[in-house]
Amino acid sequence: MTDTSAIAAELRRLLSHAHAPYSGVRVAAAIESEDGRVTYGVNVENAAYPLGQCAEASAIGAAVTGGPVKFARVYVTSSLPGLVWPCGGCRQKILELAAAGCEVVSLGAEGEVGRQTIEQLLPLGFRLDPAQVRRD
Ligand code: THU
Repeated sequence: MTDTSAIAAELRRLLSHAHAPYSGVRVAAAIESEDGRVTYGVNVENAAYPLGQCAEASAIGAAVTGGPVKFARVYVTSSLPGLVWPCGGCRQKILELAAAGCEVVSLGAEGEVGRQTIEQLLPLGFRLDPAQVRRD
């Protein structure tokens, strides 16, 4: 397992890279893959508000770009006090590539740590088996 305090420090540093001029809420996320690779992402807001991208989505894009991946852990931190958890849409995005037992780790500015599995955060999430999709 990767060193959580090192990831937490890097996420705190990356908050300054978030593009969040509209909400003022900075979010940074990391994905730790089953094979130990770690990728990072920040939220990217847009003047056309619905086009904004969550930090988790940025980190997921970077993880997938690195090659075949299954998520062992997802880390998230923000400029808000206390712990934040991925929004509903990001929970679904995480579930898509989650390894069995994939954990979401929320890291607070004061050193607080919360852990939930993605299954706890998104019970009964939507799943599609490509083998069972009709194409006719
Ligand atoms: N945000 C994330 O980056 N991740 C989440 O899971 C929830 C919300 C961002 C979106 C927006 O830029 C800001 O936080 C305020 O909603």
